[in-house]
Amino acid sequence: MSERVRSVARRGVALAMAWTSPVLAQQAVAADTSAIVPAMVDLGRAVFHGKGMCFACHGQALEGTQVAPTLKAHVWRDAKNGDYAAIIDVITKGVPSTAMVSLPGGITRAEATSVAAYIWSVNNRKAKP
Ligand code: HEC
Repeated sequence: MSERVRSVARRGVALAMAWTSPVLAQQAVAADTSAIVPAMVDLGRAVFHGKGMCFACHGQALEGTQVAPTLKAHVWRDAKNGDYAAIIDVITKGVPSTAMVSLPGGITRAEATSVAAYIWSVNNRKAKP
């Protein structure tokens, strides 16, 4: 195979992977903070104080409790640097062997993304708790 044919073939494989993996494509979009809109933050706030039960451990205003750390600006332990993608990851996968389970309260992945958008926005002074 010539180098040119090989490079075209590689691109074809990459494209096929992107097409057949909506989850990967969705996460790439989800982790883009410019995609965060107020409606998403509002939904995340509702999930935090409702279905997700996050407030029970992390506090009504993200201030933390004896059970779980604050989710306001702090030295992040699991969600590295408080990055949006890292926050989504922790909420989706949980932190093994801790009270932080994956998708707390049985929230959906979309709800996890919204609640992450809410936490990220509060951290970056773009929303109130
Ligand atoms: C039953 C208690 C509990 C509930 C409910 C809970 N968490 Fe947690 N969460 C924890 C604990 C404990 C940790 C710290 C884990 C560790 O020891 O590293 C944590 C860690 C986190 C972190 C990482 C913090 C860091 O410093 O990196 C995020 C983000 C987070 N939780 C978000 C949420 C969200 C969003 C919800 C609701 C959908 C939620 N949690 C529900 C207990 C809880």
